[in-house]
Amino acid sequence: MHASEKLTGIQELTREALHDALDLARSRGWTIHEPEWKALLHQGACFALYVDDELVSTITTIRQGDVCVLGMLLVKDTYQRRGIGTSMMRHAMARLPVRSFALAATSMGAPVYRRIGFIPRGRIIQLHADHFDGPSADINLPSVRPGCSHDLAAMASLDTTAYGWPRGEAMAIAMQISRRMVVDTSQDGQILGFGGIRDHGAGSLVGPLTARSPSAASRVLAALCQGAQEPITLQIWANHHELLAWARAHGFQETASLTYMVHGPVPVGTGGYQFAPLSGALC
Ligand SMILES: CC(C)(COP(=O)(O)OP(=O)(O)OC[C@H]1O[C@@H](n2cnc3c(N)ncnc32)[C@H](O)[C@@H]1OP(=O)(O)O)[C@@H](O)C(=O)NCCC(=O)NCCS
Repeated sequence: MHASEKLTGIQELTREALHDALDLARSRGWTIHEPEWKALLHQGACFALYVDDELVSTITTIRQGDVCVLGMLLVKDTYQRRGIGTSMMRHAMARLPVRSFALAATSMGAPVYRRIGFIPRGRIIQLHADHFDGPSADINLPSVRPGCSHDLAAMASLDTTAYGWPRGEAMAIAMQISRRMVVDTSQDGQILGFGGIRDHGAGSLVGPLTARSPSAASRVLAALCQGAQEPITLQIWANHHELLAWARAHGFQETASLTYMVHGPVPVGTGGYQFAPLSGALC
């Protein structure tokens, strides 16, 4: 950092800084989803670093019970490799009253987290389709219907089984930021799976996607994507070969991968039920 630059120290990232944070994210090539940032700024503890009144780094955190999910770690490209990313992580972790942390790391972030003591626990494959080559809008999926607030308790219960700890905040945010949520149900009305789709840049992003079986997951995914005219991005946990094959067969191609990393005693849950996270920043 140049001697004349005024580093104001790490401070709270406030809602008023939303537009600066979005600009920083855009400058790093990230696709913007404003409602997700808004939810994090309203409901999480978020931090910022300014130099000469310019926002040069952000990090968001959202507490989900005893686990805190860290996200949106961004450092302006001209300030990289000076220890800012590491300091932001240490600052955020020291201020949160939990011992367990989780995050989804890009290939740039993973070495920084590894040095701080995070260990990899899974991989998320990102896929993209400019045109969804799937079931046309008139194909009937009888067990799938729109999800609504009455389903929240049953969805939250399935989510707790999937992840291993209650993540009420993540479920509430999923309801809040999704354009559409759907549930797959058994004949007696039990929820077998659920998922959401939301705006993502010029297209849409699917997540969360949680289900008791790969077949329920693919029905939910088909219903979410059905009739889409816009590009769609998926983030699927890498252990789900069947769903990945389904996605590839319907026009999706792999574009990137994220590493799910944990620090401290983060429960394992029923990994087979987790098909897609809500997002990188919310896991
Ligand atoms: C990933 C990211 C946040 C890292 O930020 P950063 O401020 O560069 O991180 P740090 O400086 O703490 O560490 C990065 C590297 O610089 C090195 N470094 C730290 N201080 C240094 C210094 N004074 N001189 C030289 N190198 C230094 C670190 O050892 C580390 O090296 P390594 O990657 O070879 O292991 C930043 O590159 C970024 O915003 N990338 C785009 C968005 C992204 O992918 N974010 C992660 C989301 S999970």
